[in-house]
Amino acid sequence: VNALDGGVSVLGTGRLAGHLVRGLHAAGVRVVQVWGRDADRADALAGEAPGAGGVTDPGRLSAAPALLLAAVRDDAVADLAARLEDAFAGTPAAERPALVHTAGALPLAALAAWRGPAGVAWPLQSFSAGRAVHWPSVPWCVEGPPAVLARLEALASALGGRAHVLDGGDRAVLHLAAVWASNFANFCFAEAADLARARGLDPRLLGPLVTETAARAAEGDPRRHQTGPALRGDRATMERHAAEQAADPLRAALYARLSEAIARRAEAGRGSSPEADPRADGPAEPGAPG
Ligand SMILES: NC(=O)c1ccc[n+]([C@@H]2O[C@H](COP(=O)([O-])OP(=O)(O)OC[C@H]3O[C@@H](n4cnc5c(N)ncnc54)[C@H](OP(=O)(O)O)[C@@H]3O)[C@@H](O)[C@H]2O)c1
Repeated sequence: VNALDGGVSVLGTGRLAGHLVRGLHAAGVRVVQVWGRDADRADALAGEAPGAGGVTDPGRLSAAPALLLAAVRDDAVADLAARLEDAFAGTPAAERPALVHTAGALPLAALAAWRGPAGVAWPLQSFSAGRAVHWPSVPWCVEGPPAVLARLEALASALGGRAHVLDGGDRAVLHLAAVWASNFANFCFAEAADLARARGLDPRLLGPLVTETAARAAEGDPRRHQTGPALRGDRATMERHAAEQAADPLRAALYARLSEAIARRAEAGRGSSPEADPRADGPAEPGAPG
């Protein structure tokens, strides 16, 4: 018996919910219902998985699916669990779907109000509207009791991906790491694009550099690939850069702090292991900006 027999209902109509509904349907997993606060949005999203129905009243959610997959704002998860508990009060815990949230930053205990089976399935990827998702490459960080884990492993594998069992502490650290790896890195890409654009230059000239930097980082040891004037201690270049962005004090301050951090980490790395001198990988590397 497949652990996902009974299908999946998706709670939420935002970015992740939309990608989940379409991805599950395309993977042949039955989407039973889509719950949302707004009837039009719930119906519209349900319409993307023929056979699914849109609902706004939690009392109209079916107990038949294997999973209730909640993709609502983090700060709405606990409240939704309490509303679902009211709605399913007459259904014995063992006969309920597993309620699963998808937030990297929330503990399993966010679902404490729900007396049925519960779990977490955090897809470690950034999902935005209007961008296709390559589901097979998305790692699923999952948590829950064994019966729920079996369903979450089936969910990941139906989408072509893999589930990794992580507790809430590990997930919290990985979520923090994801802020650095994606949100902060993207902020830097955006500053770079703004600099180019302000000078009338096409920011896509930076594209191959962005791609190569991310591809190296994805191999797992980005510290080894650090390059640039701060690492080399090239004061003359850093002073020219400071002058070029003096009109933007926020950017200038960030540049100075990041440069300092790069130099300090490099210093610490040299102290701990002479062989791990990050400069060894510096300007000689092809494609690295000098
Ligand atoms: N997007 C990502 O990259 C990503 C990646 C991994 C995990 N996640 C997780 O996925 C979940 C949803 O994120 P998202 O990016 O899809 O957010 P989103 O696009 O902003 O959508 C948020 C959804 O939450 C609903 N919502 C907001 N306040 C609510 C409330 N008080 N009660 C019930 N529902 C409420 C919204 O409903 P309305 O449409 O009615 O406002 C909307 O359906 C979060 O837990 C997030 O941590 C997101």
